[in-house]
Amino acid sequence: MKTKITELLLIEHPIIQGGMQWLSRAEFVASVSNAGGLGIISAATFPSKKELIEEIRRTRELTDKPFGVNITILPGVGQKDKAIQYFEAVIEENVLVVETGRSPESFVPELKKAGVKLIHKVPSIRFAKKAESIGADAVIIVGYECGGHPGMDDVTSLVLTPKAADTLSIPVISGGGFADARGLIAALALGAEGVVMGTRFLATTDCLAHPKFKEWMIQAEETDTVIIERSIQNTARVMKNVTAEKVLEMEARGATMEEILKVIGSGVRRRCYIEGDLDGGTISMGQCVGLIYDIKSIKDLITNIITESEIILDRLQNIRR
Ligand SMILES: Cc1cc2nc3c(=O)[nH]c(=O)nc-3n(C[C@H](O)[C@H](O)[C@H](O)COP(=O)(O)O)c2cc1C
Repeated sequence: MKTKITELLLIEHPIIQGGMQWLSRAEFVASVSNAGGLGIISAATFPSKKELIEEIRRTRELTDKPFGVNITILPGVGQKDKAIQYFEAVIEENVLVVETGRSPESFVPELKKAGVKLIHKVPSIRFAKKAESIGADAVIIVGYECGGHPGMDDVTSLVLTPKAADTLSIPVISGGGFADARGLIAALALGAEGVVMGTRFLATTDCLAHPKFKEWMIQAEETDTVIIERSIQNTARVMKNVTAEKVLEMEARGATMEEILKVIGSGVRRRCYIEGDLDGGTISMGQCVGLIYDIKSIKDLITNIITESEIILDRLQNIRR
């Protein structure tokens, strides 16, 4: 497939793996890129520039294809300095693509000068317009279905994707709810130039999460996720588990942000992934978990999506009178 995104990012298929803290490590990222998609390392996994550079170099040993780095500029003391270090790593190591969350505005001139392609991830049209205005090369728009942060407006990918395509001049990548060839073709029909998938990539043999997670995913229904953190303006779609229920209870009784943050700390998540503790933390998970029926390698996943896309395109061709 050839789209504006395959051309911009120099990839074979318009399939991008969204950055996932603790999980999108070198082996995983290289598997996506070697399969013709774009793998993305999550900078937040690493304490500083030095460790991120090591991971970028490790990824490069495993693939000669393009890959990216996700940098989310979090609020809070010291976070901006951390982001500066991550951006320096990306520029110094000549990484082709950076996927950002929250406004990367102050970093845009340096990224442009270094020739880094900036893809900014947003959950709404107003943020997408802002991303275009500050010079993003493409926008990822994520809908209400997505794992991670779907924003505060509760608008689905089915509406956000065509609206973004109508509104922007830069290419749109659609995220949230995409797990198979039907999703990819639907996204392209809606005006996207590619898809971002997070949840689907978790149920692969290449993902380092404990087998218990993957088994849970195979059993899970599309109703087994829940939105938390609305009370602190930071909605997150996560697995419906004991910790998510606890957070919802805390929010209902008006707990403070500090109290909530203690329960949802990202360090806890790492242990959950590695040890297979399904209830110990809040784990990002999209509604498309209900569309995942098997655990396969990333290579097989991407190959199947592309093969089935061809079949769908033929079928659609044949419904024309
Ligand atoms: C387990 C998990 C962890 C994630 N971690 C991050 C992250 O650290 N940074 C980020 O920008 N997005 C993160 N995301 C969001 C993904 O990059 C992607 O935007 C999203 O998963 C797309 O929606 P989908 O889950 O329906 O495929 C995460 C998603 C999942 C499922």
